[in-house]
Amino acid sequence: MPGAFKKHAEAIYNMEVRPDDVWVITFPRSGTTWTQEMVWLLENNLDYETSKEKPLYERFPMIEITSMIPDIAFELIKTNFMNLGNFQGLSEAVRHASWSTVEKYSSPRFIKTHLPLSLLPPNLLNTAKVVYVARDPRDVVVSYYYLHKMVGKSLLRANFSHFWEAFRRDLLPWTPIVSHTNEAWVQRDHPNMHFIFYEDMIKDLVGEVHRMSQFLNRKYSEECIINLSQYLSFDNLRKNKNVNNTTTEGKDAVQFIRKGEAGGWRSHFDEKMEIQAEEFLMEKLKGLSLSYPSFQ
Ligand code: A3P
Repeated sequence: MPGAFKKHAEAIYNMEVRPDDVWVITFPRSGTTWTQEMVWLLENNLDYETSKEKPLYERFPMIEITSMIPDIAFELIKTNFMNLGNFQGLSEAVRHASWSTVEKYSSPRFIKTHLPLSLLPPNLLNTAKVVYVARDPRDVVVSYYYLHKMVGKSLLRANFSHFWEAFRRDLLPWTPIVSHTNEAWVQRDHPNMHFIFYEDMIKDLVGEVHRMSQFLNRKYSEECIINLSQYLSFDNLRKNKNVNNTTTEGKDAVQFIRKGEAGGWRSHFDEKMEIQAEEFLMEKLKGLSLSYPSFQ
């Protein structure tokens, strides 16, 4: 994490969790945005109108951004890590420096974070509902690479093999990924934890919307669930400016909602990287009950 995180880590760890909070926790590029929109709509009587009017980053703020502004943002700019101008959610958040921290938001709060459970308030799970989304790290690293092409400055010059090297050595923000996911996985049977895989959302979105609505104790007709699933389809969300955090333009511009595939990593990894990835996963998963549906 950028060094400024240290200054805020304690405040985040000690923040007050409310019983009516809903948190979405992920490693970056695991389907966070997709899940946030699903959760927000299920929790807000399918209020498509407000979701159209208000950007997702306002309805469902990210704790790192709201708590650490301006430190983290400025540090990222200073180190040339990010070009905020290309990242709608972040640049808007920085511009609205008057934004209060998540702590001051009125209830019910919807909170996004990429921090692992161990850096969050210890009473989180016993107090509020938590959704964790996991994704095959090989697809995550490809997606993360394209995010950096969209927002990065110095990293624009990095090719995928440089990026992969940094990822597998746990040098990128929010890494390491497997322990991040494992911390939630071991809590998957906790009544306040809903643990899902991105790959399962790709396979059966209607089923996942059903299961999410049950977890949130929200009852909807079959027709509503099907309509919501259609609304959440890749093509539809990609067109949605309030959800697809993309401001770069032009035919080669990288989109925040980019490909939406499971297994797309195959076209980015050469043989050596594929072997490295297998070793990386075997090593990190050793002794854990966690396994990825796409890596058995
Ligand atoms: P890709 O870059 O592999 O396409 P996050 O919101 O955590 O940053 O995750 C972004 C990833 O989720 C991107 O993956 C994005 O395309 C994918 N995604 C977002 N909405 C999606 C949808 N409706 N269907 C499938 N994938 C989606």
